Amino acid sequence: MSHKIVSKKQIGEEVFWARIEAPLIARARRPGQFIILSIDSEGSERIPLTIAGADPDEGTIELIWQRVGKTTAEMADLREGDEIANLAGPLGQPTHIERFGTVVCVGGGIGNAPLLPIATALKQAGNRIVSILGARDKGRLILEDRFAEVSDELIVCTDDGSYARKALVTEPLQEVCRREPRPDHAFVIGPTPMMKFCCEVTRQFRVPTEVSLNTIMVDGTGMCGGCRVEVDGAAKFVCVDGPEFDGHKVNYDLMIKRLNAYRAQEREAHDKYGQHRCRIGGAGS
Ligand code: FAD
Ligand code: FES
Ligand code: MG
Repeated sequence: MSHKIVSKKQIGEEVFWARIEAPLIARARRPGQFIILSIDSEGSERIPLTIAGADPDEGTIELIWQRVGKTTAEMADLREGDEIANLAGPLGQPTHIERFGTVVCVGGGIGNAPLLPIATALKQAGNRIVSILGARDKGRLILEDRFAEVSDELIVCTDDGSYARKALVTEPLQEVCRREPRPDHAFVIGPTPMMKFCCEVTRQFRVPTEVSLNTIMVDGTGMCGGCRVEVDGAAKFVCVDGPEFDGHKVNYDLMIKRLNAYRAQEREAHDKYGQHRCRIGGAGS
């Protein structure tokens, strides 16, 4: 069954949003879960994307992706009315939502997309939400307005100071953790080094912290081992055991090494797709 793109727009530098027909997934999905898609029925690669939102009545899900390589570039070139051949999901364990008290939600770059459904569910469960959003620059900051709706306090920063506060997210995170009473819980989603450094901050203040890991995935069913990580000294598969884990127990250095394993092949695939687009007249986004 293919899935029609009902609406699509660019929401930031290299960042795209789409609402896609997927009635069964829209009904079944819970915050924290993701899908694995392949654009064509044959030959195209499978990539995981978080379900950023869903409308069960309309039978649609929201996806938000950053153009980083071949498949996300192909996705960016699709238009409203086009179809995606396969969407498998919802996959992964849903986020554990409860009334913790005050929860700090820290998002970095495209990490704001997977963080949004979690912050929304935490707010609905009665938590006080302090959101800290960071991006490299103003153009890469996404979903500020959606976070404003679900947050009791919103702190925005950019690495280069082109918008809001000039800081890395670890700086306001430290300030929030220093407050009395301390936050009861934290969720951090973003680039792996950012999650690592945020967890070093929350560890000092003994704030329990969950992170959502974005490892390479192939089958998404626990069979291939592509998404293996080390958590608390044990092997875990992000696709079936995660994607969320206790951030204080993840071996980030090993994860970063594994994420970089296919860099050369990924670059080659992206370059070939770029040349192909040029020959057909450079389809716009
Ligand atoms: P490539 O050039 O092939 O790869 C670029 C980088 O993306 C790689 O170095 C690697 O770090 C990563 N990557 C490559 N292939 C895969 C793969 N099969 N699986 C996972 N990562 C891969 N990105 C978003 O923009 N929005 C999201 O909501 C989102 N949610 C995710 C949820 C989960 C559970 C996971 C594991 C990843 C998520 N990602 C998300 C990352 C996204 O899957 C990758 O950016 C995408 O696969 C890159 O594909 P590419 O061909 O465009 O780039
Ligand atoms: Fe294959 Fe997780 S993606 S085991
Ligand atoms: Mg790829």
